[in-house]
Amino acid sequence: MGHLDGKIALVTGASAGIGEQTARTLADAGAQVICAARRLPRLEKLAAELGDAAIAVELDVTDEESVAKLLDRLPLDWRDIDILVNNAGHDIGGRRQFHEGTAAQWAATIETNVIGLMRVTRTVLDSMVERNTGHIVNIGSVAGIQAYKACAAYAASKHAVHGLSETLRFDYGATGIKISEVLPGMVETEFAATRFGDEKRGEEYYRDFGVCLMPEDIARSVRFVLEQPSDVVIAQIVVVPTRRKPDSSIV
Ligand SMILES: NC(=O)c1ccc[n+]([C@@H]2O[C@H](COP(=O)([O-])OP(=O)(O)OC[C@H]3O[C@@H](n4cnc5c(N)ncnc54)[C@H](OP(=O)(O)O)[C@@H]3O)[C@@H](O)[C@H]2O)c1
Repeated sequence: MGHLDGKIALVTGASAGIGEQTARTLADAGAQVICAARRLPRLEKLAAELGDAAIAVELDVTDEESVAKLLDRLPLDWRDIDILVNNAGHDIGGRRQFHEGTAAQWAATIETNVIGLMRVTRTVLDSMVERNTGHIVNIGSVAGIQAYKACAAYAASKHAVHGLSETLRFDYGATGIKISEVLPGMVETEFAATRFGDEKRGEEYYRDFGVCLMPEDIARSVRFVLEQPSDVVIAQIVVVPTRRKPDSSIV
């Protein structure tokens, strides 16, 4: 148990990668974690592993009704969410020049990473405002503060997450609600396989990149952000891998 004892945390995109590890880390810190995503069997497996500390709930952040009915679908004593980790996201069809992608692909990226995040935030905010307490942690990306090649729609989505996080901190800065953003560099997850629609290509992508972060590196940062004293808000944490192989003898 830890500093998050008794807090109720909603983690979106908890069926894989960063979200799954964040759910584990927050449960370890004492939180009761609502694990949300579209792939319910995976969430149920995770919740079973975490025992009383977690429940699984099917959620598609792109589906207005799925989000609108989210709170009603939770057990009564899990509805006052204290912590929201907005993590669900993807870059389907990404890493190619803008004209090579389709409008449907970039719209799906924006719909999930931006509109979906805003939808879920809107849904949990009323209760946070009413109770004058809460902490929202948005998982942005280094792509939200710098540009790189062949990444237009994803960078646009993460720049939007960055702008939204900054603005919400102004909106709620004088209240008990904190807004933080964690901006990872390259993390080895299912993200690349989803991006290319090809598992093998996803693995090759991480291998070619060299040293990557692991999901636990980001989960640890989320926990750090959440465990600050009540008068401290971490606005942003940018987490990037070193360029040194973990087994390298060079110090
Ligand atoms: N990996 C990286 O290098 C990296 C770097 C910077 C930022 N990020 C950000 O980190 C976040 C997590 O990515 P990851 O690397 O952990 O990728 P991942 O392993 O592919 O996990 C993505 C998660 O998002 C969920 N998701 C996707 N669309 C959803 C939807 N419509 N509704 C609900 N959940 C949805 C997926 O669950 P279901 O498919 O079950 O719904 C899955 O749990 C994303 O926001 C990503 O942009 C990743």
